[in-house]
Amino acid sequence: MSTMGAAGEEPSVTPRRSKRTEILENRPVNLDGFVEEWPEVGMVAMDSPYDPQPSVRVENGVVVEMDGRTREEFDFLDQFIADHAIDAEAAERAMALSAIEIAHMLVDPKVSRDEVLAVSSGLTPAKLLEVVKTMNVVEIMMAMQKMRARRTPANQAHSTSARDNPVQVVADAAEAALRGFRELETTLGVVRYAPLVAIALQVGAQAARPGVLTQCALEEATELELGMRGITGYAETISVYGTEPVFCDGDDTPWSKAFLASAYASRGIKMRFTSGTGSEVQMGNAQGKSMLYLEIRCVLVTKGAGVQGLQNGSISCIGVPGAVPAGIRAVAAENLVASMVGLECASGNDQSFSHSDMRRTARLMPQLLAGTDFVCSGYSSVPNYDNMFAGSNLDCEDYDDWNVIQRDLQVDGALRHVPEDEILAARNRAARALQGVFAHLDLPSITDREIEAVTYSHGSEDLPFRDVLEDLKGAQSVMDRGITGLDIVKGLEAGGFADIAESLLGVLRQRVSGDLLHTSAILTPELTTLSAVNDPNDYAGPGTGYRPTGARWEEMKRLRHVVSARNPEEEVG
Ligand code: 5AD
Ligand code: CA
Repeated sequence: MSTMGAAGEEPSVTPRRSKRTEILENRPVNLDGFVEEWPEVGMVAMDSPYDPQPSVRVENGVVVEMDGRTREEFDFLDQFIADHAIDAEAAERAMALSAIEIAHMLVDPKVSRDEVLAVSSGLTPAKLLEVVKTMNVVEIMMAMQKMRARRTPANQAHSTSARDNPVQVVADAAEAALRGFRELETTLGVVRYAPLVAIALQVGAQAARPGVLTQCALEEATELELGMRGITGYAETISVYGTEPVFCDGDDTPWSKAFLASAYASRGIKMRFTSGTGSEVQMGNAQGKSMLYLEIRCVLVTKGAGVQGLQNGSISCIGVPGAVPAGIRAVAAENLVASMVGLECASGNDQSFSHSDMRRTARLMPQLLAGTDFVCSGYSSVPNYDNMFAGSNLDCEDYDDWNVIQRDLQVDGALRHVPEDEILAARNRAARALQGVFAHLDLPSITDREIEAVTYSHGSEDLPFRDVLEDLKGAQSVMDRGITGLDIVKGLEAGGFADIAESLLGVLRQRVSGDLLHTSAILTPELTTLSAVNDPNDYAGPGTGYRPTGARWEEMKRLRHVVSARNPEEEVG
């Protein structure tokens, strides 16, 4: 609307806005951040003018030139990748194929996963980038469906507490296990709490549906120690980055990370690296390269280190690719690159990035529909206010939506609906088991009042406060006394929870066999290993590969409310 001011003044103009614009502006999606591309600082998803052109030259079995740089010009990532991740024998032949030809191999169901792996083992980072740049999201999904390592998809959850309350963590871990998660991860607000929370996570993980592997994301030395002691079952947050200065910021090199990886392997402990688009921009040193090019370097560093898998899909940096054009396509592409070089992929859908329910669902589709080794690498099994990884794209308030989406589309996102009475029983029993373990280990007691509260609670706000100082003293004593997973087993046995003790012992035994070092290894509730070795993805087009059928499909059909069409008065499921 325009109004004329007093004589001699400029007319002031307030443009009239439509009702529709007002409604659109108030939609949650407009609280998200969107920015223009800016390649000079790396704010570009997968197509920077400064990304190198693919090339390779091999002399006497050594890669002497890669992506336009000679060996003398290599930075330490180039050197590590050239020497450890690229099969020099396969390189020149593989690089002679055009990006389009390789992309066709990826999408064509008649070309087997193994045939693709034989080619991808000889590809440089710039070439891998060129290949995925030719693919749209549906083609990326088709390729992922074939290239993921394990036939049966799985899922991973976060189980944390805003108060680092171990009683909350044990109950939510038990519920998450019952709902289907095969890996559980925790971290802390107050790091010194870690031993108590890691013990709680381990007990909860075995209490209701055994065989769930647990991890505690911490500073690397402590994380390794908890793993070696068997208080945790695997490790994941071993970060790698795509440029040399960002790597050096963490006082690390590809070789130091490879050394750490071998420390885990020496004890048969499962571990994977973490990386993802956006970390180099966020840490201010992307060297003008696209996020995806840098992430592909991380994928190859992981492969070169001999690690079985990678958590990628931007992870904690998702706001960065999420803000630029084609960013979410790039995130799907980075998952594919991990799978196409033979790594297990825990594919993000982890940190929250959007206020829009539609957008967070859309972001999930490439991984959920195609199926990945772990569709979420951190679904929040607690309300997001309790999520100490800064919130997740999905939390426990989304369980019913997830189950309905699985059922609607008949895709297996690895979760299931569980009736409330079973959940309450599991939460209660897990908390009582932890009460027994804490008593056996002389740790601060867990009261019956806490157990009653946690059985019915939603989050930490519903629980009585614990004596934090006493807990922290107890946590320190776990470290000082050298308590191990076996002590937890004994505590469970002493408390009258022999079945949980047996399960935990079974999980600990696995590391002696080394089976968890196989690519994409998970444990079933029967404590057998399922991995790319004994459950290899055999997708070869329509009618093949993993499809939810039989008992699993029956389970997926059950929801909180399903009405019988024959007898509308009756609720089934
Ligand atoms: N790159 C590297 N490491 C990451 N992490 C999360 N996102 C990334 C990323 N994009 C790791 C960090 C963090 C933990 C939760 O996961 O180590 O602390
Ligand atoms: Ca994770």
